[in-house]
Amino acid sequence: MAETSALKQSPHRGPLARGERESSGREAGERRRDAKIVIDDLTLDYVNQETGASHRAVEHLDLRVAGDEFLCVLGPSGCGKSTLLSAIAGFLRPTHGTIVMDGRPITGPGAERGVVFQEYALLPWMTVLDNAALGLKLRGMPKKERYAQARRFLAIANLHGAEHKYPHELSGGMKQRVAVARTLANAPEVMLMDEPFAAVDAQTRMVLQEELCRISLRSRLTVLFITHSVEEAIFLGDRVAVMSPGPGRIRTIVDVPFARDARTWSALNADPAFNAMRDRLLDLVRTPQSQPLEAHA
Ligand SMILES: Nc1ncnc2c1ncn2[C@@H]1O[C@H](COP(=O)(O)OP(=O)(O)OP(=O)(O)O)[C@@H](O)[C@H]1O
Ligand SMILES: [Mg+2]
Repeated sequence: MAETSALKQSPHRGPLARGERESSGREAGERRRDAKIVIDDLTLDYVNQETGASHRAVEHLDLRVAGDEFLCVLGPSGCGKSTLLSAIAGFLRPTHGTIVMDGRPITGPGAERGVVFQEYALLPWMTVLDNAALGLKLRGMPKKERYAQARRFLAIANLHGAEHKYPHELSGGMKQRVAVARTLANAPEVMLMDEPFAAVDAQTRMVLQEELCRISLRSRLTVLFITHSVEEAIFLGDRVAVMSPGPGRIRTIVDVPFARDARTWSALNADPAFNAMRDRLLDLVRTPQSQPLEAHA
């Protein structure tokens, strides 16, 4: 679980629930000396090339993500979550501010940062195995080696026996697992995931969440995971960052007080602290910053 120093009083309401600690992105960063990704005063504008009109999606955003941390990001629709992720992936250049990884500014996409989008983005004319090995092929890895690596991650994603199927023969959950396996096969240091499980049914989503939790612990990855689901954020994250409505910035960051290696849906659902935290985060996502929050403690 993420390490925190002094328990801070919420600016929005009374005492925090058990295990919850809040901080701004900058304060959390100052406590995290082992930060892998450091974002300072980030502003991201979209500029329409034809009209010159500019739209500010993210403004003055500060965030630190630690080396083996699983950070979930919640926020209202349109607050700039995908824009933030695209900038960390290197698809968007900052209008202002900096994004630094391992001490070096991010200037474009890189194999050390794997991205999983909501759409599965599998190539329909390729088998599962070839889809999973695609990134390795693009990097020039010999066939035998790349197939061995792809098979290993397909097995981790519970896809043994599906190697020679084509995407149209798979369920939505299986397609998403291929996309996750493909990203993992590239051995990224950082996984950037944008609502990857939003399109799959609730039952499959729970299985995928449990698998991702297990895989990320085993691979010691840094994960930035965007979701609309408060429950998903608590289930997966070491910390949950809540963004304010657009132009987005980090409104608050909450530590998740449940041991990650012991998280199963049945265990969390039986824990009253899980429900209290869910209600608290729902309030944070739904309530404008200027309004006081109702107490749940
Ligand atoms: N390519 C683009 N050109 C212009 N504006 C854009 C572009 N992409 C996003 N925006 C705008 O930037 C803002 C942030 O969009 P973004 O997609 O990052 O939000 P989001 O938090 O991911 O929302 P959602 O939860 O609905 O996915 C929105 O106002 C959106 O309309
Ligand atoms: Mg989005």
